[in-house]
Amino acid sequence: MRNTSSLLLALIDKNDPVLPLSLRLQASIRSLLLSGHARQGDKLPSSRLLARELAVARDTVEAAYQHLETEGFLVRRLGSGTFVAACEHAFAGAAQRKRNLASTGFRAALSSRGAAIARGGGVPDHAAARAFAILPDVQPFPLDVWQRLTSRVLKTHRAERLMYADSQGHPALRAEIAKYLAAHRGVHCSDSEILVLSSSQQALTLIATMLTDAGQAIAMEEPGFHGARFAFEAAGARLLPVKVDGNGLDVEALRSLPAGTRAVYVTPSHQYPLGVTLTLERRLALVDWARRSNAWIIEDDYDSEFRYDGRPIAAIQGLDPTAPVLYVGTFSKVLFPSLRLAYLVMPKSLMPAFVAARTLIDGHSNLINQVVLAEFMREGHFTAHIRRMRQLYGARRDAFLHAFGRHLSSFGSCVESAGGLHVTVRLDADIPESLTSRAAARSRIELPTLRRLYADRSKTGGWLMGFASLTPGQAARGMGALSQAMKSEMARTGARASD
Ligand SMILES: Cc1ncc(COP(=O)(O)O)c(C=O)c1O
Repeated sequence: MRNTSSLLLALIDKNDPVLPLSLRLQASIRSLLLSGHARQGDKLPSSRLLARELAVARDTVEAAYQHLETEGFLVRRLGSGTFVAACEHAFAGAAQRKRNLASTGFRAALSSRGAAIARGGGVPDHAAARAFAILPDVQPFPLDVWQRLTSRVLKTHRAERLMYADSQGHPALRAEIAKYLAAHRGVHCSDSEILVLSSSQQALTLIATMLTDAGQAIAMEEPGFHGARFAFEAAGARLLPVKVDGNGLDVEALRSLPAGTRAVYVTPSHQYPLGVTLTLERRLALVDWARRSNAWIIEDDYDSEFRYDGRPIAAIQGLDPTAPVLYVGTFSKVLFPSLRLAYLVMPKSLMPAFVAARTLIDGHSNLINQVVLAEFMREGHFTAHIRRMRQLYGARRDAFLHAFGRHLSSFGSCVESAGGLHVTVRLDADIPESLTSRAAARSRIELPTLRRLYADRSKTGGWLMGFASLTPGQAARGMGALSQAMKSEMARTGARASD
């Protein structure tokens, strides 16, 4: 092998502060061999020579050579030197393989399911979260209480808390969730009907995987939650959009869906994204339809705790104990998103299959957080926090609507809603949504758009504006900046053109 020393000098990073020199040398020689610069039997410089040329200690080269011999890359023969081992098949065509990889990456290797996931998903840029991202305010979260409970939990039953745990969820947490749901959401279930998960998103993925075969239909609110859409599509389900009006999902329209529809996904307390509430009459009709059609109701109750006008509406699950409902709840909005705890309430008969699926995916959720959360709920901090946040968010929502009237009402109007963490805005028909996205990006404002939540993309555009994590001052400043950016974008493009 010619020019070994100069090739290695180019590869080795002598200033790497983390890895010891001998490990870096090992890695450099390995990548030299794998990149097709060597053939079986090629002789490497002696450790003494290489050490001199690289200006490193001879022991360093010796250690690297010895290790690579153990791995099978090199053979060392006493008295004759160090040689590239007989593993040509691994090196042959390496350069071509590298070129192929550079052009196609590993994408060509994706299954059709994998490709559907890659197409649908998209990774949100949480690092850039700013006005008007739809997020809870985590500043008022009582971290001191959480910390105290965590150290208590770690002190007591220490060993048990560090071991594998119940895949269905920590029993004490399930019991607290059952109590909370009965008292505040009108959900009737025992702790044995609750599966603790990491997120509602995981619940939706599990439901789709466990209850639908490829090509089977799931009815979806139109517009509807993109996370649900992606989860169902990734499982191979066929989505049937059903329109939403001022009273929520048009349940009557379900009756014209094809027989065999497996499920309907709804956000009845606070429809995502429009924010309307499904009326009681429609809830009852929905249960009736599901029962007759042998279909499941997937009830996503993601932010129902935050209702500012009147009391929270009880869940569909509680209307009838025999209704075919899968109830999904999350702690992401009521506590904080990084907690990664949520739950799925289902009939007992389904539980063993779902627990098996959860075990297959990742065993269970972080036990320490589950135990701390159970204590947090048992001591009353959970409901107290919700009460505090409801008050704070209610005031912020009012201030937001006021500021909207001042800054943005010439571009569109807010959809009336009694709760939630965001307000949906419908843009005036002659204002292109794409123009507004450009304006938002220019003023570094996060403005989730409405049209992507429709299966029918011909709908007029709009925005989802999160208000909960912003003080009234921040919201007003964001709106002022957005309004300015909109005006200059309109002037720049000759505006009010059609999208
Ligand atoms: C309708 C709806 N369901 C579920 C979720 C996600 O909750 P989680 O963080 O538990 O996945 C969201 C998050 O924005 C949502 O809007």
